[in-house]
Order: sequence, then structure tokens, then C-alpha cells
Amino acid sequence: MTADSDKDIQYLKAIGKICAEALRLMMAHARAGMTTKELDDYGLAFLKAEGARSAPQAMYKFPGATCISVSPVIAHGIPNDHVLKAGELIHIDVSAELDGYYADTGASMVVDKRDKNFDKLIEATKAVLMKALHSAKAGAPLNGIGKTVQEEARARGYNVIYDLTGHGIGKKLHEPPGEIFNFHQPKDRRILEAGLVLAIEPFLTSGVGHVVEEKDGWSLRTKDRTIAAQFEHTIIVTKNEPMILTL
Ligand code: CO
Ligand code: CO
Repeated sequence: MTADSDKDIQYLKAIGKICAEALRLMMAHARAGMTTKELDDYGLAFLKAEGARSAPQAMYKFPGATCISVSPVIAHGIPNDHVLKAGELIHIDVSAELDGYYADTGASMVVDKRDKNFDKLIEATKAVLMKALHSAKAGAPLNGIGKTVQEEARARGYNVIYDLTGHGIGKKLHEPPGEIFNFHQPKDRRILEAGLVLAIEPFLTSGVGHVVEEKDGWSLRTKDRTIAAQFEHTIIVTKNEPMILTL
């Protein structure tokens, strides 16, 4: 959507803050010995208390309130009876709706302990997201985002996942202008306009950069079972720095 009124901005900020807080609480709560379903229930309870609805549940009948992916699954992981272990690389994605407005955010983390290899990937992905966000300016090519993601990922020694993209958001979870590639796509001539609401989500991996669907019909894991990380924010494009709704 294009946020073109104070009301739009105010409501988008409200749901952005709820998603950010749900993600922060879930990350703080994640520890070895708990199941991913328990972690999801924790996030769901927060969303409910805020009057918000899980977007994947409401829009796609996803079997969970949030997506919790255990490596090498990197997206759409179903919260289930998997017991988290110390040192596991996981990804949490929270998207929700309040008063007809949507926001979407995600983060990768290691459960309970530090791991040099995972930490490097996580820090790189976080840094790439921030670089990509700041390349999103009104009047600039939309694919400047993907170009930045790919260049910054490479500079840090990683590949992007080509199959997973960001997207327009606002009045629905996925809406125009459609997919926001995480790579340079010269054929993409779209130009960013002020007010455009986008979910930007670079996926970095040490592998070849493709995913396959697991038998559960949802979970997407790296094809070569390499590690991957994602960070995601919902923003409103302006002619200067973007307004980040899910900080
Ligand atoms: Co997301
Ligand atoms: Co998204």
C-alpha cells in the first residue's frame, strides 16, 4: 500500500511496534528445553493481549501464530514439538494485523550459547538489512534494494537465497509492488515512490542460495542444507531515510 495519510502512518506504526515487541519477547524467551510450539504460544499470547491477529494464520491458515524455523529450515517453519537445543540456529518470523493494517518482521538467533560461525552469519545479515533499508528512497530504483543485498552479502563472504523475497505490505501481508528480490535484476524497472510500504528481508547463506519445501508442505530449507539467516523490517519509503516500523 501507499501510506498517504497520518492515519495510515499511525496505524502502521502501531502494528509495527506490536510485531517488533512480540519478536523481541520471543527471542528473549527462547531457550534450550522448550518446544517451538511453546515459544509460538508465548508470541501468540502477546499478540492476543495487544488485540492483534497472526497474519499467516488469518491469511494462509498457517498452522502456527508465528513461523519458527530450525536450521537448515529458514522460512515458514511450523511451531511443533521440536525441543530447542543449546547452540541451535533458529529463525523467528512475526507478522500480524491490527485494525486492517499489517507489519512483518523477523530475526535469526542461536539458542542459549554463542557460535562463531553462526554469529558471523547473523551479524552479516543484520548489517546487510540495514544497508538495504537505507538504499530504499523515493525516486530510486526498487531493485537498488536487491542489488545492495547481493553486493553487501558477497562483500561479507555469503550468498543470497534467490528464491526468497521481500514484498509490498500494508492492507494485506503480501501486496503490490510484489516481490522484492534479494539480488540484482537488471530487468526490474520499478521505481520507489514515497509512502510505499515494504517488507525488506535479506536471506544470507553459506550455500548455493536455493530452498526446497519439506514434506509438511510449509517449511523451506536450504537445498544443500547449509546455514542461512534472515532479518526483516517493515518500512515506509520516503525521499530520505525510510521510516522503520518494526525497530
Ligand atoms: Co516475515
Ligand atoms: Co515478509
